[in-house]
Amino acid sequence: KDKVTIHTLKRLKQIGQKICMVTAYDATFARIFDQSGADVLLVGDSLGMVVQGHDSTLPVTMDQMVYHSAAVTRSTRRAHVVGDMPFMSYQVSPQDAVRNAGRLVTEGGVGSVKLEGGSEFADTVRAIVRASIPVMGHLGLTPQSVHKMGGYVVQGRDEEQGRKILDDALALEAAGAYSLVLEGVPLDLARTITQRLSIPVIGIGAGKSCDGQVLVCYDLLGMNPDFKPKFVKHYANLHGSISDAVGAFFSEVREGVFPDEEHSFKATKGLRAVTAP
Ligand code: KIV
Ligand code: NA
Repeated sequence: KDKVTIHTLKRLKQIGQKICMVTAYDATFARIFDQSGADVLLVGDSLGMVVQGHDSTLPVTMDQMVYHSAAVTRSTRRAHVVGDMPFMSYQVSPQDAVRNAGRLVTEGGVGSVKLEGGSEFADTVRAIVRASIPVMGHLGLTPQSVHKMGGYVVQGRDEEQGRKILDDALALEAAGAYSLVLEGVPLDLARTITQRLSIPVIGIGAGKSCDGQVLVCYDLLGMNPDFKPKFVKHYANLHGSISDAVGAFFSEVREGVFPDEEHSFKATKGLRAVTAP
């Protein structure tokens, strides 16, 4: 199968074929998702929450994003890999942003980068794109703005907010972004933005009209039964499967059942001199 590029993704929008994207943070999950037909793998800064155990994405560093991006790209053959720009890696200056985006490409091996924010970051997007690094935008519920938003709350519910998000989307497209993630917005707003933009819009908590969908892999796999916001669907109960599996392992260890002969190594005759009682 041919490698997915930003041009593949634009073509998918044009022919009306949905884009399938999922987060990945390590080589093992990335290999599975890639072989399962993902178009895009996102090394999301959501790893700050699901991998590191923080209560926001804010503490995630550039070094950590580079480390996880490299792990994911090493085992991805077909999917396009996007690396998230972490908090404070692009907000200070476009120069900073270009240098950090460059690290995700050169050290992390990603094909594009994603950053949160609208028209305020048009110059930053332009600067990164000028360096030949494709940029995916991210609007609506932008987790790095949790303090500004006053929590993880749906954005764009009224006319003023909705118009601002639409204007931001148009500004990102004009600045050269090749696609856009739209998170936590009413489905009607997402439909309008998807229709108004020629670049692919990938939704999460943004309804079915987007050009594609993304979910955090641990969420869709049902790794945490206690985390089930409205926009998440559990396609598996890995929490149950995993606790059953490790529980069975622990039981067999405690009962002395594992490891049996089948899972143990045999000696050659010569070793009897050492092991004979
Ligand atoms: O970090 C992340 O996982 C994301 C997706 C939810 C879009 O940005
Ligand atoms: Na993110």
